[in-house]
Amino acid sequence: MKLRSTLAALGFGVIAACVTLSANADADPKRGEVLAYTCHGCHGVPGYKNAYPTYSVPKLGGQNAEYIISALNAYAAGERPHQTMHAQAATLSEQDRADIAAYFASTGVQPSSQVVGTPPPATQTCVACHGVDGAKTVMNEYPILAGQYADYLLQALKDYKSGKRKNPIMAGIVAGVEEKDFEALAQFFANQKGLCSTKDIRERGACQ
Ligand code: HEC
Ligand code: HEC
Repeated sequence: MKLRSTLAALGFGVIAACVTLSANADADPKRGEVLAYTCHGCHGVPGYKNAYPTYSVPKLGGQNAEYIISALNAYAAGERPHQTMHAQAATLSEQDRADIAAYFASTGVQPSSQVVGTPPPATQTCVACHGVDGAKTVMNEYPILAGQYADYLLQALKDYKSGKRKNPIMAGIVAGVEEKDFEALAQFFANQKGLCSTKDIRERGACQ
């Protein structure tokens, strides 16, 4: 009897796992493309800036789907503080977020792993998770940094350092990096081939 209920519990666990898996597999990039229309107004304008503080609205083209979903969840929950993005994310259902993320991820290019320029020494701490050129992450929950706007990356590093942006992993990382090295790190990853703005996607169909 005990064994049977244990098996039943296990069976339930397997079913639950399958449901989670198929929810991801069901993400519809075509529907995501339609939903992402409102996002282009800011993410599709190259060089479009957040007002205070001033930094570029990040590129989403080619970004990892799981990272986009986790960012949207964090904005919606208020864990990642940003008024505009909170308003945007809060109106999206779980399915909407998965579809939009699948759309942006589908526009990416294969990472070439060809490093552009000389990596500053501090990048040694980053490559284990973000990849040698920031284009191929070890996990999909980690963001691609390659090709992102340098001023956005710099702002993100400052926000982790000040605690405005809370993430236990990155908080630990920036604690061990000197602030004077932030600029070179941001510039290096921005120079690599990877992400693109949604304007590029609409004009060329994908990041190049
Ligand atoms: C009014 C302008 C605006 C609109 C519209 C907008 N965003 Fe954003 N988005 C921003 C800004 C500014 C940031 C950077 C906020 C920060 O520093 O955390 C951002 C950040 C993000 C991020 C985090 C990227 C990263 O690398 O961490 C994601 C994901 C995102 N937006 C998705 C979307 C989606 C999906 C939509 C459409 C449903 C959308 N945004 C609409 C301005 C906008
Ligand atoms: C142990 C894994 C790990 C290491 C090592 C690591 N990161 Fe990260 N990084 C992450 C994760 C996870 C996130 C997403 C955190 C979040 O949701 O805010 C992230 C986010 C970032 C972001 C924000 C990107 C965006 O789109 O908003 C930047 C910038 C960044 N990392 C730079 C670096 C730099 C520079 C280094 C090396 C000095 C580094 N990271 C080392 C795991 C890592």
